[in-house]
Amino acid sequence: MDKKKKDFLTLRDYSKEEIEYMINLSSKIKKDRNLYCDLLSKKSIALLFNKQSTRTRLSFEAGITQLGGNCIYLDADSLQIKRGETLEDSARVFSRYLDGLVIRTFEQKTVEIFAENGTIPVINGLTDTYHPCQILSDLFTISELGLLDKSLRLTYVGDCNNVLNSLLIGFAKLGIDITVGCSQKYEPSKEILEYVYNQAEKSGSHIKLVHDPSVAVSGADIIYTDVWVSMGEKDSEEKIAELSKFQVNEKLLSFAKPDVKIMHCLPAHRESEITSAVIDSKNSIVWQQAENRLHAQKALLVYLYS
Ligand code: CP
Ligand code: NVA
Repeated sequence: MDKKKKDFLTLRDYSKEEIEYMINLSSKIKKDRNLYCDLLSKKSIALLFNKQSTRTRLSFEAGITQLGGNCIYLDADSLQIKRGETLEDSARVFSRYLDGLVIRTFEQKTVEIFAENGTIPVINGLTDTYHPCQILSDLFTISELGLLDKSLRLTYVGDCNNVLNSLLIGFAKLGIDITVGCSQKYEPSKEILEYVYNQAEKSGSHIKLVHDPSVAVSGADIIYTDVWVSMGEKDSEEKIAELSKFQVNEKLLSFAKPDVKIMHCLPAHRESEITSAVIDSKNSIVWQQAENRLHAQKALLVYLYS
C-alpha cells in the first residue's frame, strides 16, 4: 500500500489497494462491533457541519463512540468563522484541541484549507463536489452482495452531482465498469470526466454516458440514484422537468435484470427521483446501504488512526 494518508478529502487521493483494504476492514468491523473499541481512547473528533445531515452525523457520532473516542458536534453558524475568522486560523486552532475533524460544507476548497493548515486528519463528510464517505460505504455494500467485480453492471441515473462524482472515481479506481443515465444538459463536469476517463484507461474500466434511461439501465444488476436538487443548489423547475424521465419507477426497472438491486444514498424525495413502490420493494437495499455508513466510516477511522 502507498504511504498512509493524513486526510480523506476525495477518493482521488486513494489507490485501489487502499480502497479495497477499507472495504475488507468494514466487513470485519460489521461482524464484530467491539473490534478496535479503544482505538480513539482519549481522542476528540469534531464534526463541523454547514449543511443538514442525518446519516453522516449519526454514523460518525456512533462510530467514534464505538471506537472509544469523544465526538463534538459543531454547528458551523455558532463559530467565529461566521463572524469572519479565517478558515486558515480556525484550522490552526482546531488542531491544538482536537484529534480529527469531519467537515460537511459547500466548497471542496474549504476541506482542503483545513487539511493544509491544520495538523489533524480531515475527513470530507460531503461537499458540493464529492461525497467520498458515501461511496466508500457503497462499495462495501456492493461487495457484501458479492457483486463488486468486473462483471458488475451498475447504472447511476439522474443528476450528475457530488455522489456521482465520487462513484465514478471509486469505480474508475477499482477498474469496474459504470454507466450513467443522464440528460445531455446535466452531465458531469468536463474536469471530472477527464479525470475519470484517464483513471479508467489505466484501470481497464469503461465509463459510459447514455441519454436514454431505458437503454442506460438495460440488463443492470444495480440501479443507483440520488436527488435531483442537492443541498445548496437552487430549485429549478426546468431541471426537474428535464430529469423527470430518469425517475426510478417500476417501468424503468422492467428494463433491468429481474433481481436488480436499487441503491440511493438517501434522503430520498419519494415520487421525484424514485417512487415509493421501488424504494419499498424487495429490490431495494437502501437500508442496508444506510447502515453500512457506520461500518465503513469506522474502517476509515481505523485506517487513519492505527
Ligand atoms: N447520505 C447522506 O450523506 O445522508 P445525510 O445527508 O443524512 O448525512
Ligand atoms: N447529492 C445530495 C446528497 C445528500 C446526501 C446533496 O448533496 O444534497
